[in-house]
Amino acid sequence: MNITFRQLRIFESVARNLGFTRASRELHLSQPAVSMQVKQLEEAAGLPLFEQIGKRIYLTDAGGEMLRYARAILELIDEAGEVFEDMRGQEGGYLRLAVASTANYFVPRLLATFCQRYPRAQVSLDVTNRQQLLQALADNSADLVIMGQPPTGMDLVADTFMDNPLVAISSPDHPLAGQRDIPLQRLQQETFLIREQGSGTRSATERFFSQHGLSLSSTMEMSSSESIKQGVEAGLGLGLLSVHTLEMELALKRLCILDILELPIHRYWYIMHRSGKRLTAVARNFRKFVVEEGKGLMNLPAASENGRGSS
Ligand code: PGA
Repeated sequence: MNITFRQLRIFESVARNLGFTRASRELHLSQPAVSMQVKQLEEAAGLPLFEQIGKRIYLTDAGGEMLRYARAILELIDEAGEVFEDMRGQEGGYLRLAVASTANYFVPRLLATFCQRYPRAQVSLDVTNRQQLLQALADNSADLVIMGQPPTGMDLVADTFMDNPLVAISSPDHPLAGQRDIPLQRLQQETFLIREQGSGTRSATERFFSQHGLSLSSTMEMSSSESIKQGVEAGLGLGLLSVHTLEMELALKRLCILDILELPIHRYWYIMHRSGKRLTAVARNFRKFVVEEGKGLMNLPAASENGRGSS
């Protein structure tokens, strides 16, 4: 059907007012102009939309159907207008956020506060490992990325907003739990549950051990911090994870942080985007919010906590 939004608006006004004169006044158009548009719509439908009985006009059945569709279409058009207005404005719009799986332990909390402040912001959150994040930056499928270390060799704007200490963990009944000042070498005898290739935690761990001239003799690979924590708790081995992943297990005393002399590994969280990228208002607001307030919203376990004194 070859019809225009203008015809639908005029028709809706005539149908609501049940009168061409009243519609023409409402729309500030001449009455012949209104009649002409309705006539064209009737031609497009191939059916009369109004009938006149005496001095009054009535909607035909076809007119009733046309009114239903016209209202649905016009509502959608108005809604689209509001969405674009939001996107142009300061508060609304869309944010594609991609974060390292380790950051997923705190990012939803940041989003909750942010979305309360900007209720019209629409956010999608993609949680994946570091390697996939680098891909998201490269192919521009994320507006902002949160991860442990900005990659080299990519032109990025990156701001750090919080510490990200990596600590060694064990189950509370492990022989090392509760010991003080354990030398790093001692860990070589232990089985370590380590993250998958492509994980930032994994590469930081490997770098750390090789910087100290050590290699782990026994490892078991697991693809999430969650499974590492479960495994460590069950006594499968030790783990080295960001303290951000441990809040609940430490509070419930299901895991403890080992007091290793050379640990924690000091890392930081960064929020970043490709330089030259045009950030939407919501992305700009979120970035500013994270940098200025992110850390203050966290309630972190201390990296030196080791479960001693637990009962
Ligand atoms: P990961 O990321 O979840 O890939 O280990 C953490 C990081 O980038 O440090």
